[in-house]
Amino acid sequence: MNKVISIRGAVTAPNTEDGIRSASARLIERIYFKNGIADKDVVNIIVTVTNDLTAFSPARAIRESGHAVPLITAVEPNIAGGIEKCIRVMVTANSDSEPYHIYLNGARALRTDLTDVYAIALDGPSGAGKSTVAKLVSKELKITYLDTGALYRALGLVCLDNGVDVKDGNAVEKCIKDVNVDIVYQNGVQIVTADGVDVSSKIRTPEVSMAASAVSAIPYVRQKLLGLQRGIAEKSSVILDGRDIGTVVLPRAEFKFFLTASAQVRAKRRFDELIAKGQTVVYEDVYNDVVTRDKNDSTRAVAPLKCAFDATEINSDNMTAEQVAAFICSTVNGDVL
Ligand code: DC
Repeated sequence: MNKVISIRGAVTAPNTEDGIRSASARLIERIYFKNGIADKDVVNIIVTVTNDLTAFSPARAIRESGHAVPLITAVEPNIAGGIEKCIRVMVTANSDSEPYHIYLNGARALRTDLTDVYAIALDGPSGAGKSTVAKLVSKELKITYLDTGALYRALGLVCLDNGVDVKDGNAVEKCIKDVNVDIVYQNGVQIVTADGVDVSSKIRTPEVSMAASAVSAIPYVRQKLLGLQRGIAEKSSVILDGRDIGTVVLPRAEFKFFLTASAQVRAKRRFDELIAKGQTVVYEDVYNDVVTRDKNDSTRAVAPLKCAFDATEINSDNMTAEQVAAFICSTVNGDVL
């Protein structure tokens, strides 16, 4: 590493020892994480604090959360109209990357130009309720929703329509190489297109589910869809639901959740959904599909379904989609807004 960068950050906190401790530690944690740095890269941290935060020293909180780096605290001048109860830091570090500044809680108002965009990764097995929850969260937080499974489904459909064996990596690659899969939003609803044709409703059949699961194990397919997913997440705040969002697509997402439920509960939900759409299905077939897809998705070599080390796991067996969405929104609101 041959560059020294200055990373700015700020957070607001209640004037209590616990409040200052957790806000300071979280701010540093996010700065390290988003910038890919550790204590060994840090030259020093300058901490300033408004004079209404008196219950504890933020620099001490940072040190006591385990960071053995040179630290100094100073009190901010009292500026009329300035943001209250605010901790600001400047982290000087060795890094080859550009600095990624972090503004949390009420301090987001200081630099909306820098950190207006955040991402929520919602991973989990099929039928756990991810898409229902993601839609509720996107509505509540007024952020974009990207159903990444729809992209794999669109490619699975293209293969089926062309009579291609979805398990044959070479044949699949040849078939989809020049296919342009894209997402457009009409009145806030996600439309998936393959070469400009809206395939949103055709991709919701059990055959396409299995085809999507098969093609999603092919490295070429995953690579093809990576840029599209990241591009959407860069432009605006998003919630992405999928299998590898927190582990591969957006490893630095601000928020990561892993939504699970038992296979029986998930199969029943999928069954009810398909029946409600007027499709003729048998519960046992839906259950077997769920189990087979679980196995495919979690045992494949590339980007297998797994809970990211820093994701919060939610078991929704005894929770409604509304309860799960409320939990996610309150986590995000508590930390970001
Ligand atoms: O979430 P879904 O049922 O629409 O996904 C269809 C298939 O696509 C699923 O079996 C696994 C795959 N998939 C994936 O591998 N990675 C994602 N991010 C999303 C879906």
